[in-house]
Amino acid sequence: MPNYRQILVPAIARHLPLDEAQVAELIETPPNPEMGDLAFPCFRLSKQLDKSSPAIAKELAEGIREEGLPEGFSSVEAVGPFVNFTVDVVQRAAEVVDAVREQSDDYGGGTEGEGKTVVIDYSSPNIAKPFGIGHLRSTVIGGALYRIHEFLGWNAVGINHLGDWGTQFGKLITAFRKWGEGAPEDQSIDDLYKLYVKFHTDTPAELEEEARRWHKRMEEGDEEALKLWRGFRQASLEEFKRIYDMLGVKFDSWAGESFYLDKLDNAVEEAVKAGVTKEDDGALIIDFENDALGVWLLRKSDGATLYSTRDLAAALYRWNEYHFDKLLYVVGAPQARHLAQLFETLRRMGRDWWDRCEHVSFGHIHGMSSREGTLVFLEDVLNKATDLVSQIMAERNPDLENQDEVSRQVGVGAIVFADLSRRRIRDYNFSWEEILNFDGETGPYVQYTHARLCSILRKWGKDIPGSYRPELLQTPEEAACVRVLERFPDVVRQAADEAEPHLIAHYLIELATVANSFYQKHRVMDAGDDDLVAARIVLVDALRQVLANGLGLLGVAAPERM
Ligand code: ARG
Repeated sequence: MPNYRQILVPAIARHLPLDEAQVAELIETPPNPEMGDLAFPCFRLSKQLDKSSPAIAKELAEGIREEGLPEGFSSVEAVGPFVNFTVDVVQRAAEVVDAVREQSDDYGGGTEGEGKTVVIDYSSPNIAKPFGIGHLRSTVIGGALYRIHEFLGWNAVGINHLGDWGTQFGKLITAFRKWGEGAPEDQSIDDLYKLYVKFHTDTPAELEEEARRWHKRMEEGDEEALKLWRGFRQASLEEFKRIYDMLGVKFDSWAGESFYLDKLDNAVEEAVKAGVTKEDDGALIIDFENDALGVWLLRKSDGATLYSTRDLAAALYRWNEYHFDKLLYVVGAPQARHLAQLFETLRRMGRDWWDRCEHVSFGHIHGMSSREGTLVFLEDVLNKATDLVSQIMAERNPDLENQDEVSRQVGVGAIVFADLSRRRIRDYNFSWEEILNFDGETGPYVQYTHARLCSILRKWGKDIPGSYRPELLQTPEEAACVRVLERFPDVVRQAADEAEPHLIAHYLIELATVANSFYQKHRVMDAGDDDLVAARIVLVDALRQVLANGLGLLGVAAPERM
């Protein structure tokens, strides 16, 4: 597909005392299509050329027209201080639609990431605690970033940095020995969580002391302690895996905090040698001497290591193992300081790849109801979404064959889409009515649009025409579809660069909206003329394809009927 901007740059630069890079910077996309597809503002030149900007625009437009319109453009017009460029609709329709047809499942993707590695640390729940909504966000955002990078040819490595080590396990062991029933590996997360909560209500000092001892025994490799810990870990993992299956999320590595135990000494030693640490009352700290960063504790005075120590060891290990071009931490905003401390430590240690590390931060979800108190169980939420959707589906489409499967796809899809449809750093209020609204800016709306397009193609019942006349796709609604389809590859790239899957979700809403206005306004199968029918079927298929590609990147299913 031609890059219209790139075609314009030399065509404009030839007429002005600017080099191509300067011209490229100035070219903009006008806010509405009547003003053309691209525009060049002339204000900046006014002083230099000692002329009014409308006069410059007029001369520039004339000069370009005299040379012949740039390849692929149908008009060049001076409007006030701007020169507006309009792309030839027919050629554009042909090029965009052909690109979608040729590349089908790969349309929007690319190879520019080849040879590059992105490591993504995401989901990373804590063992023996329920998988909550905070971890949903990390899982869904991280999963999308994984797929988006792979789509662009990157080697993506997904790591689940499980919270499977730390003082809380000493508490859990203590509670389990006192109140638990059955084998450690047979506990449900519910059981474990209850033990954990029970431990924390009115804990007598001797229990706290016992918990510390058990934790110490774990750190020393005591078999009895480790056996219990392994059982809890196993029990938790089984529950987590059920959730990952529901969400269609995968990991290449499950190296959690415990994985780094035998790597902590080296990491601490490297930090000490680099001269970035200091002793403080027997503890080892890094004092950043900076209010924003404060102090980072690497080792307690009793020798115990911490979350921070394990993150330091993990970063060093990941560098050796993957030599990444980017290392993304998909972690909630409350850990911003912790990660800034980690990155700054790496910088001070002379690890010059420190700036390849990035905190992909996200805000909080308010207003999900919970089973007990503040903690929301994700599995409950996903099940509730599925139930609510099956009620809706029973009304909308009672004859649907695989009702259960579709309800799950739409229910889970609604939650995932809701999570990805806003800039990740924003907090948001969760509302069932909002996220399940088939006519809102929701997952079900995009999925439903996709299913509608599939249904048109089913009714058509024949192969998608091999050739068609793109010049027939000229109504404003069709041109709008083409224009939005064309942007998909750029949107995917921007989403990868900014680590913002929401750009894709937002794009899909736009695409679904133009697709809807197209088929509500124009007949497809009974358009009358055979050529027109063929061209519109081809367009319908292209829209279907790109909706499916985008949903796929977000990890949302695209059912063909609903
Ligand atoms: N387990 C942590 C939590 O739930 C998140 C871990 C994020 N990853 C990391 N490398 N620190 O808060």
